[in-house]
Amino acid sequence: MTAPTSQALAATVISGSGLYAPPAVISNEELVESFNTYVELHNSRYQKDIETGERTALQPSATDFIEKASGIKRRHVVNKEGVLDPHRMFPIIPDRHNDEPSVQCEMAMAAGQQALDDAGLAASQIDAVIVACSNLQRPYPAVAVEVQAAMGMAGFAYDMNVACSSATFGIQAAVNAIQSGSARAVMVLSPEICSGHLNFTDRDSHFIFGDACTAVIVQAAEDVKAGQGFEVLGTRLKTQYSNNIRNNFGFLNRGDESGMGKPDKMFVQQGRKVFKEVSPLVASLIGDHLQSHGLVATDLRRMWLHQANLNMNQLIARRVLGRDATVDEAPVILDEYANTSSAGSIIAFHQHQSDLAPGDLGVICSFGAGYSIGNVILRKR
Ligand code: COA
Repeated sequence: MTAPTSQALAATVISGSGLYAPPAVISNEELVESFNTYVELHNSRYQKDIETGERTALQPSATDFIEKASGIKRRHVVNKEGVLDPHRMFPIIPDRHNDEPSVQCEMAMAAGQQALDDAGLAASQIDAVIVACSNLQRPYPAVAVEVQAAMGMAGFAYDMNVACSSATFGIQAAVNAIQSGSARAVMVLSPEICSGHLNFTDRDSHFIFGDACTAVIVQAAEDVKAGQGFEVLGTRLKTQYSNNIRNNFGFLNRGDESGMGKPDKMFVQQGRKVFKEVSPLVASLIGDHLQSHGLVATDLRRMWLHQANLNMNQLIARRVLGRDATVDEAPVILDEYANTSSAGSIIAFHQHQSDLAPGDLGVICSFGAGYSIGNVILRKR
């Protein structure tokens, strides 16, 4: 097979996708019960300080608030016991020996194998692997290189992180690799263990995230049989700096012991500001991107949006379409999986695409910390 030349950019296709969700599920009721026990324990422990005004009493959480404010009903997690233990509020994930597969590698292998089966490929036919996600469990060696070896994939592999937009940025990187001739078949994996960065003792955000891993395979179109997959008509990325979603965890934390373990070393957000600032940015990016391809919103059969907040998705879809979207037009997976960071829009795509007819158009659109927004226009083949 000859590599495409730069003069004629090769058409690319998403030829397969996969999803791994850990079997353990936490309902809103279970999560709120554990959180409220934590609150009771905290408030009785610090009762005197609360009475003298030295500390503020913590407020309980509520399931009806969670569902109304976010649309989330439950979430899958890698470990349930640790999260629900009011004395711990963090998943139990035992250290593994260096010779064992890492947790993210295992999740990626499960999702990746599904994507290979979907695309009808053997692992050895993949010649680039990108692990694109919000949190990597170690700096090096790259998780992508570990997965590449564990599954027997060829070529090269690397990790990247653009928070909730990691998967769409990864898809653009995959398209670029194919169009520049450095790869023919790229696997983009998003093993998101969001329960590891979530502060389960924070009432404002304890309900937001869940764990999952997605996989997509991007190939040169000429290698994919007619009628299979989705042609990538174009990708568009946008970043705009903001501190409204931030996590200060990092390798320099040890430089100041007083900051270690503080809440800013986990996910922190100004949710309302994010909602207000990001929604219009996303809607206009989708509109501009469609326009640059001679398309309009009414041409879209489906929007596979990032899954952070149901109300936010409804607002974005309304701004894009000029009317309310149906769940058929903008499917929701948030109720079952919560926010799985970069995996969310890909889960929506994976679970809601088999009914599309040849020629149908859709967008995968992610948004999140950075801010970062990624849009991918697809046409069913
Ligand atoms: N249970 C009960 N009440 C709660 C609560 C909880 N768990 N958490 C907050 N509240 C209360 C607040 O104290 C506040 O009370 P007040 O009105 O008396 O002050 C009220 O509910 C509203 O809180 P607010 O934080 O303004 O809620 P919201 O409607 O903005 O919803 C989010 C919160 C996080 C669900 C929402 O802002 C969001 O999803 N934003 C987008 C975030 C996003 O996309 N992030 C991307 C991350 S990848």
